[in-house]
Amino acid sequence: MGTNDLNRRKFMGKLGAGSLAMLTATAMPSHGKHSNGNIDKLAVLGGEPIRKNKAWPQWPYVDEKMVESIVKTTRSGKWSRIDIANGSVATFEKEYAKLLGANYCVGTGSGTQALSTCVEALGIGPGDEVVTSPYTDMGTVSAIITSRALPVLAELDPDSYQLDPYDVEKKITPNTKAIIPVYIGGVPCDIDRIMAIAKKHNLKVIEDSCQAHLASYKGRKLGTIGDLGCFSFQGSKQIACGEGGAIIGNDQALMEQCYTVQNHGTARNGKHVTIGPKYRMNEFEGSILLGQLDTVQERFRIRNENADYLNAKLKDFPGLVPQKRYEGTESAGLYIYALTYHKEHFGNADRSKFLKAIQAEGIGFSGYIANGLHREPWVDHILGLRSYKQMYTANRLKQYKEDMNLPKCDLACSRMVSLWASGTLLGTKQDMDNIIDAIMKVYDNRDKLHSL
Ligand SMILES: Cc1ncc(COP(=O)(O)O)c(C=O)c1O
Repeated sequence: MGTNDLNRRKFMGKLGAGSLAMLTATAMPSHGKHSNGNIDKLAVLGGEPIRKNKAWPQWPYVDEKMVESIVKTTRSGKWSRIDIANGSVATFEKEYAKLLGANYCVGTGSGTQALSTCVEALGIGPGDEVVTSPYTDMGTVSAIITSRALPVLAELDPDSYQLDPYDVEKKITPNTKAIIPVYIGGVPCDIDRIMAIAKKHNLKVIEDSCQAHLASYKGRKLGTIGDLGCFSFQGSKQIACGEGGAIIGNDQALMEQCYTVQNHGTARNGKHVTIGPKYRMNEFEGSILLGQLDTVQERFRIRNENADYLNAKLKDFPGLVPQKRYEGTESAGLYIYALTYHKEHFGNADRSKFLKAIQAEGIGFSGYIANGLHREPWVDHILGLRSYKQMYTANRLKQYKEDMNLPKCDLACSRMVSLWASGTLLGTKQDMDNIIDAIMKVYDNRDKLHSL
């Protein structure tokens, strides 16, 4: 056995007394004690899976209150927010702002629309640059290029999958107007340092909190730290309505500008004053969101408790290292539960083999984002557009293309394994123990992974 190898006994020996008690009391029993004696053999090779015919908590979450809320809206015949002054969208906006400790909230039709509205409302457009992460949903970049601004992608800290503030500062040019930090997995990034950089260079900050509902950092909810914060309520998100989004902020004039932009440039007083698409949230979306608000904090608590439990159990296991958290992190949104796969501790087996084996055990780990956004075709597409060639110098665009070399992001993409957390992390302790048991079973069988 090489120096990187750690058998189950040694792994348990390395755990602290508390974790060891937890592990022996819970995670140990199922693995190896099934009657047919086949549980030790990998399921992918014909053994008995750790988890068989056992459903994970249903996602999206649905309860009677949500159903009643949507029925009430359907019967009311008031389906657009402009049909009713204090309808479900307006009420949701008030309640959501209160929940996060923000002064104002504006609903939109998606997280992408929320981000796009902010870019436009801040007056960012052709010729301007915005620094953001390559490790995010395309919606982040889409919001910038929709306004024909230039999305400048900075490097990651490969252990947190979040923006590296040092590289963010390096990517700032005289044309930079804003930073869009992304909270990947709903976990706080190094936002204090990013805010300090923004202040130093007089830049706006739009927090992409699309995965970070209710998460907090140094006493503040994510989304309330920068100038504006954006959320997604797409069906897989922890607060969901199919497609939906929201902007939160404390600056009344800026938030009114956001309202006007998402209302096709029409202010609340009916005057058509500026450029804006029609991105309004509708009353059905508002009502399904409103119907779940009373219970979202409880689900948030359970997800955090389960993530902490898994993190504690994996604390001394070098093969899978939980997403790094920065000092000041108090809780996480947990859209995904993410770990870094270190293949040297799994007999150098590729991540794909680990995933194949653990999925067969009934645990749905996947690789999440396959490629950083710097590797996607939109880069060459915008570089070929007349609008970009007119607004940016040839030298700038040449440098831009050269800067699309982000090896730390590539490393993060190749090593991360994750679980969709909205539903999965609502499971019981036994469900969480199944996850640990499956990891340890695959680990114990790491010499067989090469044959898969
Ligand atoms: C980090 C991040 N930003 C932006 C978005 C875009 O949100 P939506 O899908 O609601 O447009 C998402 C959605 O997955 C996201 O995860």
